[in-house]
Amino acid sequence: MKTSLSLLIVSVAAGALAAPAFAQGLPPEAHDNIHRLFDQHAAVQRSVTLTATGYTALTESDDPEIARTLRAHVQQMRERLDSGLAVRRWDPAYDEMVRHYKDLDLKVEPTAKGLRVVMTGKTPAAVKIAQNHAQIVSKFVAKGWPEHDVKHPAVAASAPAPAAPKENTATGGAQCGNCGGGKSGGESGSCAGNCGRAAEKQAERK
Ligand code: HEM
Repeated sequence: MKTSLSLLIVSVAAGALAAPAFAQGLPPEAHDNIHRLFDQHAAVQRSVTLTATGYTALTESDDPEIARTLRAHVQQMRERLDSGLAVRRWDPAYDEMVRHYKDLDLKVEPTAKGLRVVMTGKTPAAVKIAQNHAQIVSKFVAKGWPEHDVKHPAVAASAPAPAAPKENTATGGAQCGNCGGGKSGGESGSCAGNCGRAAEKQAERK
């Protein structure tokens, strides 16, 4: 009995060591911060300016707790990607972002109510990927949970040139764009009631 227990412990430990880095799930704090941001998305304001080399974004909240959560989230994601771990690897846009991460430069400056981010790409593909990421984050902010399970298209392969500089904004107060006709445009099925909490119940799949 003792021997089989020891064997079990050894094999579980060996399995954990052998697991590829990308298979590691999010730590609870990072997971909780993401959930808080989805829950509180209506209290977040965000504006994005696309530039020739990427984008700048200002993301803020009047609620100091949410402002702190935003800063903590970005720091946690940054550390995760810096250490070679993946996020949302089932989502083509994030999978692509992780693969091109070495070609992305992220500068984060805290503001009184949140943070300003300047993301630039070192290659034309990375510029497109940065801009795509900016627009996905804006969708998270604008739509909240209904956007959580949406697979966002990758852009690098089909991208001849970066988008021309332009400004767009997303405020947390936006209606759920997925709800047109009551149906979601993504994988998550119908919006609002069906999507919101149902998304939370699903595994984060990171
Ligand atoms: C599915 C959940 C999410 C994942 C996996 C995720 C992942 C990431 C990653 C990987 C980055 C880039 C960090 C870096 O380049 O070092 C990032 C940045 C950021 N995320 Fe999230 N995120 C999620 C949800 C959200 C939500 C719900 C919000 C806000 C409502 C949010 C706001 C931001 C902001 C403000 C940035 C900084 C970049 C920018 O301003 O464009 N994220 N996130």
